[in-house]
Amino acid sequence: MFGKLLTAVTTMPKLCRMILTDKVAVVTGSGRGLGLAYARALAAAGAAVVVNDVDADAARAAAAQIEAAGGRAVAEVAAVGTTEAADALVRRAVDSFGRLDVMVTNAGVLRDKVLWKMSDEDFDTVVQVHLRGTFTCARAAAAHMREQGTGGRIIVAGSPAGQRGNFGQTNYSAAKAGIAAMVRTWSMELARADITANAVIPVAATAMTKTIAAFAPHVEALEDHGTPLPDALRKGEGFGTPEDAAPLVVFLASDAAAGITGQCIGIGGDKLALWSHPQEISVAYADGGWSAEAIAAAWPVSVGRTPETVGVPAPGTGL
Ligand SMILES: NC(=O)c1ccc[n+]([C@@H]2O[C@H](COP(=O)([O-])OP(=O)(O)OC[C@H]3O[C@@H](n4cnc5c(N)ncnc54)[C@H](O)[C@@H]3O)[C@@H](O)[C@H]2O)c1
Repeated sequence: MFGKLLTAVTTMPKLCRMILTDKVAVVTGSGRGLGLAYARALAAAGAAVVVNDVDADAARAAAAQIEAAGGRAVAEVAAVGTTEAADALVRRAVDSFGRLDVMVTNAGVLRDKVLWKMSDEDFDTVVQVHLRGTFTCARAAAAHMREQGTGGRIIVAGSPAGQRGNFGQTNYSAAKAGIAAMVRTWSMELARADITANAVIPVAATAMTKTIAAFAPHVEALEDHGTPLPDALRKGEGFGTPEDAAPLVVFLASDAAAGITGQCIGIGGDKLALWSHPQEISVAYADGGWSAEAIAAAWPVSVGRTPETVGVPAPGTGL
């Protein structure tokens, strides 16, 4: 697998610099973690950025940090998930910087529990922030970008859990799978307006992944002592820093990614990946249709012979 990766890297064409000086971006949940890395990288490439977070101190500190580094940023404190919050973010971009080109829907929370212990509130909270937050922000952005008439970029946050399922994450995997499905739909609906829609599937050391036992000591060593993540994580798990994931957002925001839409793209550590789209992988036909008995007979030798694997592999197990 690494061999394939190295082949891709060595055959890479000449690098060109990503310049976003005319672009205005909103990044939700960018007070810390991946969102902060995305906002900083977009600003470093020249974009003006609306930093959003539900945590007011984190949002303001992030905007100040970007400005101190010579970038352009304002903070808009809001809990994404509602139409009002989404409209406020788009309005802030337009009021502060005159336009909106890039909407990055990154804000997220976890409420992990196994199915039989998950409360309605656990489910609704995660769906509200991730799925509804992504829907409302993308809708507000798309409406404005269509009116503006100069195309645009919608970049959403998926997850390996949404692609494969993950233990204890009924709410989160449902929301993330829904987000991937929305991106595929939006890639069709927005194509005529030159607006692309793609999902970034990151894996990175943040407050969120510090809760995973196998990653925790590495995340702590990185945070406390700046200890670099080992190759086994960077390549083996595709697990890196938030800064490792940010270049994909800059690329997708750039003119170089104008033709890329409807994709779920993985990034983390040293790894860049394209996730497959759902498709029928095994098909059989029965003249006049299928009875339950016929399905039972055909399943083990036909359509069901090689079932799909599921689940995010436990770090370090390679499973
Ligand atoms: N870290 C990973 O490995 C990983 C993997 C897959 C997907 N993701 C996704 O990437 C995104 C960022 O994750 P992270 O690891 O940086 O998490 P994080 O917890 O470090 O940061 C999330 C940020 O979102 C903010 N936030 C939460 N609810 C909000 C709301 N309603 N409105 C505005 N801001 C809100 C938080 O205050 C926080 O600053 C999430 O969507 C997450 O699901 C992360």
